[in-house]
Amino acid sequence: MRWPVRLTASLVITLGLLTWGASYVARSVMQSWFERDLTLRAELAINGARLALTNAWTGAPVEALRDVLVEIAQDERVLGVAACRAADFTLIAATPGFPSTFACDRFGLLVKPDGAGGSWHTWTGTDNSVLGGTVHITAAPIRSSTDVLGYLILIHDLGFVSRRQAQAERLLLVAFAVLALTASTVTLIANRVAWWRWTRDLRLLLGGGHESPEFRPLMRDVRALADRIAADRDMDRDVEAWTPKRLRDAATRHFNADQVIIVANREPYIHQRTESGGIEVKHPASGLVTALEPVMRACSGVWISHGSGNADRETADEQGHVAVPPDHPSYTLRRLWLSDDEERGYYYGFANEGLWALCHTGHTRPMFRTDDWKHYEAVNRRFADAVADEASTESPVVLVQDYHFALLPRLIRERLPRATIIMFWHIPWPTAERFGICPQREHLLAGMLGADILGFHTQAHCNNFTETVERYLEARTDKERGGLSHKGRMTFVRPYPISIEWPPTKVPAAPSPDATRAEVFAELGLSANALLGVGVDRLDYTKGIEERLLAVDRLLTKYPEFRGRFVFLQIAAPSRSEIERYQQLSDAVDALVARINDRWGTPGYQPIIYRRRHHEPEQVYRLYRAADLCYVSSIHDGMNLVAKEFVSSRDDDDGVLVLSQFTGAALELTEAVIVNPYDIDQAGDALAAALEMPPAERRTRMHYMRAHLAEFNVYRWAGRMLIDAARLRKRESLWQRLAPATGGARNGGA
Ligand code: F6P
Repeated sequence: MRWPVRLTASLVITLGLLTWGASYVARSVMQSWFERDLTLRAELAINGARLALTNAWTGAPVEALRDVLVEIAQDERVLGVAACRAADFTLIAATPGFPSTFACDRFGLLVKPDGAGGSWHTWTGTDNSVLGGTVHITAAPIRSSTDVLGYLILIHDLGFVSRRQAQAERLLLVAFAVLALTASTVTLIANRVAWWRWTRDLRLLLGGGHESPEFRPLMRDVRALADRIAADRDMDRDVEAWTPKRLRDAATRHFNADQVIIVANREPYIHQRTESGGIEVKHPASGLVTALEPVMRACSGVWISHGSGNADRETADEQGHVAVPPDHPSYTLRRLWLSDDEERGYYYGFANEGLWALCHTGHTRPMFRTDDWKHYEAVNRRFADAVADEASTESPVVLVQDYHFALLPRLIRERLPRATIIMFWHIPWPTAERFGICPQREHLLAGMLGADILGFHTQAHCNNFTETVERYLEARTDKERGGLSHKGRMTFVRPYPISIEWPPTKVPAAPSPDATRAEVFAELGLSANALLGVGVDRLDYTKGIEERLLAVDRLLTKYPEFRGRFVFLQIAAPSRSEIERYQQLSDAVDALVARINDRWGTPGYQPIIYRRRHHEPEQVYRLYRAADLCYVSSIHDGMNLVAKEFVSSRDDDDGVLVLSQFTGAALELTEAVIVNPYDIDQAGDALAAALEMPPAERRTRMHYMRAHLAEFNVYRWAGRMLIDAARLRKRESLWQRLAPATGGARNGGA
C-alpha cells in the first residue's frame, strides 16, 4: 500500500474511534442533563401545586385531588401522576393515563421515612421495567404542617431523550464523517501537491532545471546513494577481468567521443641515432611508461611528452607528431622540445633534485633553486599550451602524470575549463612536515588541486597529501569521501595502485622458461647447476642497489654452500646522470661490485654480474624467466613495477620474489618474501631461504601473486580512474546546470 493511502486509512480509523468515544460521552452527558431537567420540572410542578394538593388531600373528594393531578400532568412529557397514601402505600388517585401496572407500594421501598423525624425525601430515578419503556420517576412527599400526608408520583416519558440522543449521535457521526472526509481529502491533495513538486523538482533536476532549497539535502543523499550503488555495480562488474577491450568500452561508454590526452615527461618511444648512422626506437626504463602505454594503445588519443631522443625531431612532423606504436600505430605521440636550460632547470633541477629527493626517504637532501623553479613553471605552462593545442574537444580527458607537472592541472583548467583532469602521482607523498621544506609548496598544492581526481598508489600517501593541504592551504576537507575543496572547487584524492598489462603481451612469444634459462645461462657462462638472482632498476639511490649487493655479500659470508654457485645479475639503466648524486651512486655501486667480486670471485666465477646500460623490455623479460629469484630492495618506492613484471613473466609459476617492505607493491604481493632491505642480515637470510625454497611452495606463492595481477592489472587501474572521473563529470554538468540556484559551486556536492 502506498503511504498516502495508508495515511488516509489511519486517519479514517482514528476519526471513527474518536466519533464512537465522543458519542458515548455525549449520550451519558445528555442523559444526566435530561434527568436533572425532568427532576427540576417535577419539583417545580409539585411545588406549584403544593397548596392545592394539600387542600385536596385533606378531606376533599378524590375527584378534586385527581383534578389537581390532571393539572400537573398538563406537560406533554408527563405520562401520569398518582397520589399514594403515606400510611399503607395504597393509591388514592391517579390521572387517566397513569399506567395500570403501577403500584404505590412498589415505591414504598424507595421512598423511605427519613430518619426518626418521619420526614420523606424525594426519590428520582430512571426505570425501564415499569412501563416497558424508559421512564423517569419522581416520588415526592406531600406534607401538612406537621405530617407527611402521602406522596406524589410523577412519571415522565424518557423516550424523547433517547430520540434526542439518537439524533445527536447521528449529527455527531455526520460531523465526524465530514471531518474525516475533509481531513483525508486535504491529506491526499497535500500529498499529491507534494509529490507533484518532488517529481517536478526531480524532473527539473534531471532535465537541468533548478532544485528547490528544501530539495537539496535530499538530493545530496540521493547522489551519495547513487554513487554507492554505481560503485557497487562497478565492483560487481569487477568479477569480469579488465582487458584492453573492456577499458576501451568503458572509455567509449563514459566519455563518448571525448579525446584522451596523456601528459608525461617521459615519452613511450625514443628515436635514437645508432653508431652506424641509422635510427632505432628505444623503450625507456620507466614504470610509468610500462603502465600507461598499454592504456593508450587501448584508448587511442594523444600522448604529450618531452622529445628527448637525439633522432626525435627528424622522426616527427612539424608539430612534433609521430604515430605510435611504430609497428601498429594506434595513437599519436606529441613531442615537445625543451632547451638545455629548460631541461636542466625543470627536469634535473626542480623535479629530480628537488621533488624526487623530497618525496622519497632516500637520505638525499632535496635541492630547491629559484632558477629551477622558474623553468619548472615555464615548462608546465608550455605543456598546458600543448594540451590546449592538442584538444579536439572542449572537454577532453587529460591524464597528467607525476611530479614533473604539479602545476599543470590548474594551468589546463584555465585553458580548458570543461576538461576532466586526472592527475596521478607515481612516487610517494611525504608527511606534511617534510613537504614544508619546499619553498614553493603552496603553488604546487594549488596547482595539483586544479585536477578533478588526484591519484596516489596507497591510502597512506593520500592521507599525507590531505594533511599537507590542510596545513598549507585554506581548504575544506571531506574526509569521508576523500575530497578537498579549494577556492570553490572539489578535488577527490584516492588510492589507485598502479599495475602492469595482463595478460602480458611479451610472454606468449617468448621461449619457455626452461629454454630461456638454458640460453641465458649459456650467455652468462653459468653452469647448469648455478643459481641466478636478478635485480633490474634505473640507477637510482631509492632502489637500494647498494643494500642489495651487501645482502648478496652477507649471503655468501653466512652460507658458504652458495659460494661459486650463486650469481646475482644486476641490470642498471643509467638515469639522470647529469645530477651529482646519481654520479656518486654510480661510482659507489661500481666500487661495491668490484669489492664483492674481489672477495668471493674465483677464476671462472664472479658472484655479481653488473650491467650498467639500457635493456629493452624483451631482454629484461628473458632474464626474469631465467632467474631463480628477483630481489627488489628499494629503500622507498611508490609502487615498483619491476616486482610485478617479474611475476607476470613467470607463466611457469616458478621463481621467488624477494621484496622490500618499503615498496607499494609489498601491500599487494604479500606472497613474496618480504624483507627490510636495511637489515642486511635479514636480507641475506631471505636470499638463502628463497634459494632453498621447496618447488611446491615456490609454485603456490607465485600462483597467488599471478592471480592477484590477473585481477588487478593496469586496465583496471586506468578503468577505475576513468569511471570515477566520468561520474564526477556527470555530477559536474549537473552542477553547471544548477549553477544559478546553487551559486555555481563546481563539484561542490560531489
Ligand atoms: O618512478 C617515478 C618515475 O617518474 C616513474 O614514473 C618512471 O618510471 C621513472 O620515474 C622514470 O624516471 P625518468 O623519466 O626520470 O627516467
